[in-house]
Amino acid sequence: MTDEFRPLKNAFGKFATGIAIASCVDANGDFRALTVNSFTSVSLKPALLLWCIENKTAAYTSFMEANGYALSILGADQTALSNRFAGRDPEPLSKSEYEIWETGAPLLKSRIAGFDCRIHRRHKAGDHVILVGEVVRFDSNDETPLVYYASQYHAGLTAK
Ligand SMILES: Cc1cc2nc3c(=O)[nH]c(=O)nc-3n(C[C@H](O)[C@H](O)[C@H](O)COP(=O)(O)O)c2cc1C
Repeated sequence: MTDEFRPLKNAFGKFATGIAIASCVDANGDFRALTVNSFTSVSLKPALLLWCIENKTAAYTSFMEANGYALSILGADQTALSNRFAGRDPEPLSKSEYEIWETGAPLLKSRIAGFDCRIHRRHKAGDHVILVGEVVRFDSNDETPLVYYASQYHAGLTAK
């Protein structure tokens, strides 16, 4: 079966990104998490960021109802986590894998940056919703990022 969107995906894929795990607590108190590369920083004052969720994704309703979410930016050796949360019904996070900050959403303990966000705005945009979050707490370290480019993972960056 040919993918009618392949040419557009190929063009979008020329923009190299990092990879993040977006997570929230659903209405039953269960964690939901998925792999995303649509992260963008938006504003410094107030501190805002965004990512986009596809309206067909299983976790869609949870993120539409949650008051906040966490984003854990992955390091170069975390491809397995990215694959895990890009699949349907991923193995749930175990207690040793996450920590909770302000919003109740789980942040991965292993990350190169973490953001805990309250929902600032939701904007419907085609087959996605843009989730703008106000950063209530964040951190970062100097470890090497996991990079996503042209539908493939790449480890690390070479400075120019
Ligand atoms: C590299 C990569 C980046 C992704 N980025 C996004 C994203 O930004 N937004 C999104 O809704 N889904 C994104 N996805 C897809 C979700 O991870 C996937 O749809 C979700 O984990 C659950 O799958 P489901 O649609 O079968 O429920 C991405 C997947 C991969 C592999």
